[in-house]
Amino acid sequence: VIERPASALKELVENAIDAEASQIDVVLIDGGRKLISVTDNGHGMRREELLLAIERHATSKLPDEDLSQIGWLGFRGEALPSIGAVTRLTITSRVHDSDEAWRLTINCGQVGGVHPAAQTPGTRVEVRDLFFATPARLKFLKTPRTEFQHASEVIKRLAMVRPDIGYSLSDGERRTLNFPAGGTDLFDARLNRLAAVMGREFTDNALLIDATREGIRLTGYASLPTLNRTTNRMQYLFVNGRPVRDRVLTGAMRAGYMDVLAHGRHALAALFLEM
Ligand SMILES: Nc1ncnc2c1ncn2[C@@H]1O[C@H](COP(=O)(O)OP(=O)(O)OP(=O)(O)O)[C@@H](O)[C@H]1O
Ligand SMILES: [Mg+2]
Repeated sequence: VIERPASALKELVENAIDAEASQIDVVLIDGGRKLISVTDNGHGMRREELLLAIERHATSKLPDEDLSQIGWLGFRGEALPSIGAVTRLTITSRVHDSDEAWRLTINCGQVGGVHPAAQTPGTRVEVRDLFFATPARLKFLKTPRTEFQHASEVIKRLAMVRPDIGYSLSDGERRTLNFPAGGTDLFDARLNRLAAVMGREFTDNALLIDATREGIRLTGYASLPTLNRTTNRMQYLFVNGRPVRDRVLTGAMRAGYMDVLAHGRHALAALFLEM
């Protein structure tokens, strides 16, 4: 369910990641309320695939065998139809081995047809006037600035998982985030990306973590006690490549630093669990 611009944005960026994009560029106007635009250079969609993309439960991402082996971020085939139901949605796409691009529009669930368009290989999804038809939801949106920050946080989290993908975010006037795609050395790429997202101060003052217990591997970085904050907002956890917010982690972090941090102070961390 789409609650705010950031939740729609998360779905669109995940789709771009699943399409194997190496560059994802986002524009948000008016905190995403007027326009959310996500452009990727992923594999794109053919004309018939475009029409399928907005059908409910028509995912192209069926697992090979058992569900635990899912390598995709998406799997329900729900995101685009749900967004299309409450906005003016435009999807323009071109596959890499074709000269033609196609554009599909859907206006509050009404499909407006598929037309030829101009587009470099990849996909651009534009969501205009989120919730214009559902004023009750509009009322719950915060200021454009706050909505923009939520969306920015979504990009940062996804960017921390995949340093091999380049990301940018613009408010229509200037780029507020720009994370260039990292190199092929995964270790360096992750450290550089964490520095870009969380700041050099973090990566310069953090300990490398790499531990395996009972088939669960924990990697990442945690700050030295001398680097701390008044909130736990800079504690990021990822489980199997997905950003998660979790009280258990917050509790474990607090317990771990209990003897070395003053009351009310919080360590910084980016931790990746694989199981
Ligand atoms: N950026 C994109 N590039 C290429 N194909 C895309 C892109 N976005 C969506 N698609 C195609 O459209 C389909 C529908 O997308 P949608 O997000 O609704 O469902 P999903 O990703 O399969 O599952 P979920 O609802 O869990 O996100 C996808 O399965 C994919 O085939
Ligand atoms: Mg999806």
